[in-house]
Amino acid sequence: MAAEKHFKYVILGGGVAAGYAAKEFANQGVQPGELAIISKESVAPYERPALSKGYLFPQNAARLPGFHTCVGSGGEKLLPEWYTEKGIELILSTDIVKADLASKTLTSAAGATFTYDTLLIATGSSTIKLTDFGVEGAEANNILYLRDIKDADKLVAAMQAKKDGKAVVVGGGYIGLELSAALKINNFDVTMIYPEPWCMPRLFTAGIAHFYEGYYASKGINIVKGTYASGFDADANGDVSKVKLKDGRVLDADIVIVGVGGRPMTGLFKGQVEEEKGGLKTDTFFETSVAGVYAIGDVASFPMKLYNEPRRVEHVDHARKSAEQAIKAIKGKESGETVAEYDYLPYFYSRSFDIAWQFYGDNVGESVLFGDNDPAAAKAKFGTYWVKDGKVLGVFLEGGSADEYQAIAKVARAQPLVADLEALGKEGLDFAAKI
Ligand code: FDA
Ligand code: NAD
Repeated sequence: MAAEKHFKYVILGGGVAAGYAAKEFANQGVQPGELAIISKESVAPYERPALSKGYLFPQNAARLPGFHTCVGSGGEKLLPEWYTEKGIELILSTDIVKADLASKTLTSAAGATFTYDTLLIATGSSTIKLTDFGVEGAEANNILYLRDIKDADKLVAAMQAKKDGKAVVVGGGYIGLELSAALKINNFDVTMIYPEPWCMPRLFTAGIAHFYEGYYASKGINIVKGTYASGFDADANGDVSKVKLKDGRVLDADIVIVGVGGRPMTGLFKGQVEEEKGGLKTDTFFETSVAGVYAIGDVASFPMKLYNEPRRVEHVDHARKSAEQAIKAIKGKESGETVAEYDYLPYFYSRSFDIAWQFYGDNVGESVLFGDNDPAAAKAKFGTYWVKDGKVLGVFLEGGSADEYQAIAKVARAQPLVADLEALGKEGLDFAAKI
């Protein structure tokens, strides 16, 4: 029977939120031996976005320890030695399979138990798999997903084994767009397939997608829309060889990458904490319905003050900021100091090839395209405002400068009134510059 260990604070999960929480704990003066991070992964917390970008570069690829948290936000890179120096225990390669919040006990797959006074749930998301829907042949080799560094290493190995081969990317969201580009720059013949009429419909309008689809086509990426993968064939080695589409077409494939969405990892806490919008319901300090149990990052469903409703956000900026807010609240409670409410402005971004965009706010209401979204433009700069009830609530910008991104963030936060949408489209970025 493995030994039981007790910590004042336990962070369950060793991803982005965990790394930023550890840093904030250190800022607030955590004592050696008080804090442990328990993670399934075998490495210290790192900036997950690197996995779909620099990690897959054909030359000068990013590798650990280069992208441990908190470098992604310009902060200190927390190497494993940093945790040792601070007396923060990193309990790695440890899969927690049971969480009993009543007795404040976590149990690992190997039978070790950990008890705590305060728990931070930072378990993030898992990838939705095609095998979850029973797609025929989806268990073949080289049908790959990307969530953690183990997945990224498998992908790198498959790219080497199937050099200059054919890749099919299933899904037109973040993973679909970023991975199609990564495979193309690694000289794969790439086809993307997705069921919707345009890519990334949860954020992009048709006008925004027009640019990215055209740009990807100009890079030689084939796009097949309005259908999905209904089955796969494998060769004698069990390696995927064909992707069968619902509309009857069949594509050759040496590698298949699937990005059909994520699911927050809340299963351990079913029936123990209140849930909301698919996540663990928290207050503005990220405390759940169970006192002393906090949820941060992808799993938290928190009150979004700006829009006066609960939201769950699956992006890195919120993972970092929710972690900092929760630790400030925990330490504030102990010292009697008041902590301000979490007043988050949604911020998402992506980059691929030599293009990059940022989005701030909420993509609701009518959309107003500005600038030139012609994919053939030499240096594209265009964007979109979202206007609801006469107020600008969200702004998207491709190809902006640091000042321009700052300006659109300011607009999304200030929510200025606009009367004439046509004039707003004509004014474009000049409107943001005046706010
Ligand atoms: P995260 O997923 O980072 O960490 C969860 C941790 O918990 C993992 O270490 C996991 O192993 C561990 N865990 C889970 N269950 C466990 C258990 N039972 N026992 C032990 N450990 C357990 N966002 C963005 O804004 N811009 C971007 O460019 C990108 N790019 C990007 C690329 C890729 C490939 C992915 C997968 C995701 C992104 N994201 C992103 C999203 C962003 O990375 C994500 O929102 C944050 O990582 C969320 O941080 P968390 O700490 O909540 O989860
Ligand atoms: P996503 O939700 O962005 O996209 C899922 C896509 O799957 C949909 O757009 C749709 O096109 C497609 N889809 C759904 N069912 C399908 C099917 N049966 N066949 C083909 N396509 C299908 O999810 P994702 O791209 O898988 O990303 C996973 C997680 O990683 C998300 O939390 C995302 O926020 C995060 N992520 C974020 C970034 C970023 O912010 N830049 C980058 C990578 C990953």
